[in-house]
Amino acid sequence: MAEKKLCVALLAGGKSGEREVSLKGAEEVGRALDSQQYSVRSYDPATDMARLAAEAGEIDVAFVLLHGKYGEDGTVQGFLDLLGIPYQGAGVLGSAVAMDKDIAKILYRNAGLRVPDWVMAIPDDATRPDRILEILELPLVIKPVRQGSSLGMSIAHTPDELAKGVGLAFSHDTEVMVEQYVAGREITGGVLGNDNLTALPLVEIIPGDSYTFFDYEAKYKPGATKEICPADLDTNLASRAQQAAIKAHKALKLRGYSRTDMIVCGDDIFILETNTIPGMTPTSLLPQAAEAYGFSFSSLLDRLIALAMEK
Ligand SMILES: Nc1ncnc2c1ncn2[C@@H]1O[C@H](COP(=O)(O)OP(=O)(O)O)[C@@H](O)[C@H]1O
Ligand SMILES: [Mg+2]
Repeated sequence: MAEKKLCVALLAGGKSGEREVSLKGAEEVGRALDSQQYSVRSYDPATDMARLAAEAGEIDVAFVLLHGKYGEDGTVQGFLDLLGIPYQGAGVLGSAVAMDKDIAKILYRNAGLRVPDWVMAIPDDATRPDRILEILELPLVIKPVRQGSSLGMSIAHTPDELAKGVGLAFSHDTEVMVEQYVAGREITGGVLGNDNLTALPLVEIIPGDSYTFFDYEAKYKPGATKEICPADLDTNLASRAQQAAIKAHKALKLRGYSRTDMIVCGDDIFILETNTIPGMTPTSLLPQAAEAYGFSFSSLLDRLIALAMEK
């Protein structure tokens, strides 16, 4: 007799700037989830939270494919905790600290990881950038503290660009940080597991010549960025970067999986941020790394669901 299928609630859409990215990922995840094992129900938190709560008793596990605010930041995770529904990836605390790039950097540094120097901006810096320039040197990277997909981010080479960048970032978030620009090779390191963590092969990210960094378009326009997996790095450096990804995952108290963005500059590895719900199309960075490790996209989803349901 056939076993009962697991009822998976696929949460996608939501209200953040990454809504479209989320919906696109959910299409792919919905397609790849093995229909012999799972029955899938879709919920969009923008409209379906009441229905999710009403149907909670019929749901075995949730797959949260939301990015950014109200999805990747712990809010949805808290809602699912209250409903007693397990879900893949980080819990409330880990999601919230990873979403806050300022808090995350404090935790990385505390764990002995290297991060680019940074200061928190104030709205005044958008007209008087000299306050920041007394602390950090150009070029600088300006980021909304709680955003993803490079939204609202810019790189400043002049005081004027710094002022404009601060203004732009404040239109995306009430908190903005300014970080030292690090020139080097950009890599990302996936981690998989609950108690026993596996560092996946690294991916090197090389945005095309028309991009000054891995911005929104470079991230999502097909062919805009070259991604090399496994990254062609010296073995010793690669293993240090993989260990750094694991350390970052632990420092933020994450669970299930994560993907940490880093820049390698000479022998130094700088941590930029950790994604708790990394992009999830078959060609996204973490699925690529999992594939190089031996997990097909479908089996990666199976693994994430199994990890979600592990006590
Ligand atoms: N300090 C930095 N030095 C150089 N490039 C950076 C720096 N911070 C961010 N970047 C570039 O901006 C991209 C997005 O920054 P990141 O911190 O990963 O935020 P997001 O959450 O938007 O992905 C990175 O992938 C990298 O290309
Ligand atoms: Mg990033």
